[in-house]
Amino acid sequence: MIIAIDGPSGAGKGTVAREVAARLGFRHVDTGAMYRAVAWRTQQLGLDLDDEEAVLGVAQAAQIDVDGSAISIDGHDVSAAIRTPEIDRAVTRVARLARVRAELVRRQRAMAADGGVVMEGRDIGTVVFPDAGVKVYLDASPEERARRRASDPAHSAAQRQALADVAQAMQRRDESDRTRVSSPLSVAPDALVIDTTGMPVAEVVERVLLTVANRR
Ligand code: DC
Repeated sequence: MIIAIDGPSGAGKGTVAREVAARLGFRHVDTGAMYRAVAWRTQQLGLDLDDEEAVLGVAQAAQIDVDGSAISIDGHDVSAAIRTPEIDRAVTRVARLARVRAELVRRQRAMAADGGVVMEGRDIGTVVFPDAGVKVYLDASPEERARRRASDPAHSAAQRQALADVAQAMQRRDESDRTRVSSPLSVAPDALVIDTTGMPVAEVVERVLLTVANRR
């Protein structure tokens, strides 16, 4: 069973995916962390983020180990280092590159070879696993998403950004994610759409688990 969780940033994907995976004893994979790690490594090597050939080389050669939202690339634990405003900007450029996406999608499919995975991202139900047993699309109002993002300890530890700045940067990234040519963020026709605005995490988790139980 593969559970695909997609949606824009701040919609609650991480928290929900982690909890659903824990409840089912499934593996949790945060694919956004993979794009972020490739962006981090590309910058660290002094390569150009818009040079598709160079970034593809990094993505193909890298040893990437992902466990939930914890991630290491070529032996560097970058779980915290990838959640900064600088990587927020860099990752958007990496996520646009079709051949880099194809390489990461190949790895994501391999990770689910044994089943029992909750995978979160932007294109999991549409591109990575169009046949996923359960597809969930989480959304929330822009205000709530910016608020959650600003108070997320994983992101706010490195910097204290004003809410307005977080909202503005998030809007720019969302726009790029939704309008890029390669695998833009979109709702799979067979996805369960949940607007999590004002909804407690426990309720979102229960709705997802109920859908899983109905499909088993
Ligand atoms: O979920 P996140 O904010 O960590 O994702 C970082 C970036 O990577 C974001 O701009 C969208 C992109 N992304 C993507 O294009 N496809 C995925 N499956 C996951 C993330």
